[in-house]
Amino acid sequence: MPRFSDRVEAISISGIREVFKAAGDDAINLGLGQPDFPTPDHARQAAVDAIQSGEVDAYTSNKGTPGLRAAIAEKYARDNRFDVDPEDVIATAGGSEALHLAMEAHIEAGDEVLIPDPGFVAYDALTKLAGGTPVPIPLRDDLTLDPAAVESAITEDTAAFVVCSPANPTGAVQSADDMREFAHIADEHDVLCISDEVYERIVFDGEHHSPMAYGENVAVVNACSKTYSMTGWRLGWVTSTTDRIERMLRVHQYVQACASAPAQYAAEAALAGPQGIVDEMVSAFAERRDVLLDGLADMGLETPTPKGAFYAMPSVPDGWVDATIDRGVVVVPGDAFGANGAGHARISYAVSVETLKEALEAMREATAATR
Ligand SMILES: Cc1ncc(COP(=O)(O)O)c(C=O)c1O
Repeated sequence: MPRFSDRVEAISISGIREVFKAAGDDAINLGLGQPDFPTPDHARQAAVDAIQSGEVDAYTSNKGTPGLRAAIAEKYARDNRFDVDPEDVIATAGGSEALHLAMEAHIEAGDEVLIPDPGFVAYDALTKLAGGTPVPIPLRDDLTLDPAAVESAITEDTAAFVVCSPANPTGAVQSADDMREFAHIADEHDVLCISDEVYERIVFDGEHHSPMAYGENVAVVNACSKTYSMTGWRLGWVTSTTDRIERMLRVHQYVQACASAPAQYAAEAALAGPQGIVDEMVSAFAERRDVLLDGLADMGLETPTPKGAFYAMPSVPDGWVDATIDRGVVVVPGDAFGANGAGHARISYAVSVETLKEALEAMREATAATR
C-alpha cells in the first residue's frame, strides 16, 4: 500500500473537472474558464520566430527573459500607472504556478490563509499543499470581498489573505477603496495580501485597481492566459517586493527552473504589441453578459451583475445544476468554489451569443422543472 503525504490527501481533483465528466460529448460547455478567441497572431508568430532561430533551445534565466520582464514592467506603467522593477518579476507556468510560489514562500505549517468563499478552487488546495489552513471568508451580497470581514478574521496565525478581482467564480470587481483598505490591512497586521489579477483587463464597469498601488505587503499574481486567450501557453508571473521575490525564486528555481521559453517570447509580444484585440474581446464579453443576465432575469433567477471576467453566479433552485446538465448544458455547482457557493451556479459566458441563447433555453426548462 503506497503512503501519501497528508498534504496531498487533504486535496482532491477540482469539482469542475468532475462536472465535465458528467456531461455528454455534444453538450454546450459553460463550465470552461477560458476565452473562446484565438491567441493573437503576433504572439504566435513571436514564438515561431524564436523557435526557428534556436533561441528557445536553452533554459532562460530563472526569472524569465529580460525582454519579457521589461514588457511586464512596461505593462504596469501603461495599464496600472505604478512602477515595477523588472528584477522584481518572476515569469511562471501560468497564474497557477505564481499562486503556488506565493503560498509556498510565505506559509508555515499551521498558518491560516483567508480566502474568499466562494473563490477560485486553487486557493484552498494550494494553502493545504503548503501546510496551511484555509479560512473561508463569506462575501458581501454583491459578491465582493469586504475588507472589514478580512480584518476581523485575522488572528496571530494568519500569514496571508487572498483577493481576486475581477473574480472567478463571481465576476465581481473590488472598488479602489476596498483595494486601498486591503493594502492597509496587510501593512498594519503584517500579513501578505495575495492579489490575483489574472482577469484585470476584463472589466466592463469601472476600472481595475491593484492593492499594489497602495501598500508594501502585496504579491500580485497575473498571467497572459485570460487577457490574450493564452491558457494553453502556460505563462504568468508574480511581482512583489525584492525580498519576497527572492524567496519565491528559490521555490521556482527547484520546481520549474524557468517558464517555457517559447511561451515567454509569445507573452512578450502579446504584452508589448497592439492591445486592440483585448478591447474587442472585452466588448464581446460585455454583450454576452447582457444576453445572459437578461435571460436569467427573465426566468426569475437573481444574479448580482458581474462587472468583469466572464462568469455570472445566479442563485438557483435545488437540483437546477443537474437539471441543466441533463439538458445538455454544462454549468458548475457553486459549492465547487466553497461552502458559501451552495445554492448558486457558475456560468461561464465565453461562448458565442447564439450558443448562449441555445443554452438559455435549456436553463429555462431546468428552472421550470426545479421550481
Ligand atoms: C482566478 C484565477 N486565478 C488563477 C488562474 C490560473 O490561471 P492560469 O491558467 O494562468 O494558470 C485562474 C484560472 O482559471 C483563475 O480563474
